[in-house]
Amino acid sequence: MQTIHSTSELRQVIQAYKQAGKSIAFVPTMGNLHEGHLSLIDTAKAQADIVVASIFVNPMQFGENEDLDAYPRTLEADSVGLSSRGCQILFAPNAKEVYPNGTQAETRVDVPSLVDHHCGASRPGHFIGVSTVVTKLFNMVQADIAIFGEKDFQQLAVIRKMAQDLCMPIRIIGVPISREPSGLARSSRNGYLTSDEKNTAAKIYQILLMCKKSLESGNKDFECLSKKAIDELEAAGFKKDYFNIANPITLEAVSTESRECVILVAAWLGNTRLIDNISVTLKS
Ligand code: PAF
Repeated sequence: MQTIHSTSELRQVIQAYKQAGKSIAFVPTMGNLHEGHLSLIDTAKAQADIVVASIFVNPMQFGENEDLDAYPRTLEADSVGLSSRGCQILFAPNAKEVYPNGTQAETRVDVPSLVDHHCGASRPGHFIGVSTVVTKLFNMVQADIAIFGEKDFQQLAVIRKMAQDLCMPIRIIGVPISREPSGLARSSRNGYLTSDEKNTAAKIYQILLMCKKSLESGNKDFECLSKKAIDELEAAGFKKDYFNIANPITLEAVSTESRECVILVAAWLGNTRLIDNISVTLKS
């Protein structure tokens, strides 16, 4: 695997592959990779000739009181994981390469219709940071397809819409959530959890499954279902951020006429904020 830090070198290498007729898949990450990320590499490998992964802890998507400084930087271990799964190029730019004029002076990309609720409500500005850096990375890499995990469901919806609205010549592919045997969604932030907290954290998925079962059996009292789920989360020791049943495309509250929905949850366990989601087909 080739590790590249500068955009100009990356462009030369990608251009040579393209001239040789190779297709390019891109997996953007912030590093501290786990099996969930590596499964994105597997999907990328199955879809294209050349896989490029990026590792960049993007300051623009962290709020003032968030974990930017504490966010684990594990480049060496990440390189080993990526190369073991057949990734051919690791792009690891520094902040100056991505934001030569700093994060304040930069052009920003916003997808306003999708960012006011769910994670966007509790992390103002977060999705502007995500869509801006993803746009930059797309322009730096110039891949044919890009792969994202469905765990960050709202992020994936924002990126799909951004790519469509801005006519970006790239196909976006979502990959189902990778889970621990306990059901806990794999996340870099699970590393902040104690082993007791990890056991508790698995309850999020159980609560999602219970809610999904009720919805599938025809219960359309969305408010009551959400309230019950929140009570269960709180009884298990979580502090709720949100628990919403939403339309999977618009991310607005689901209506009783909807056929598909997604249950989105974010909750705090101690100092760690966890997110998860599950898609449901409703009874007609
Ligand atoms: O999901 C992530 O790791 C990040 O939000 C992303 C897409 C790499 C942008 O920084």
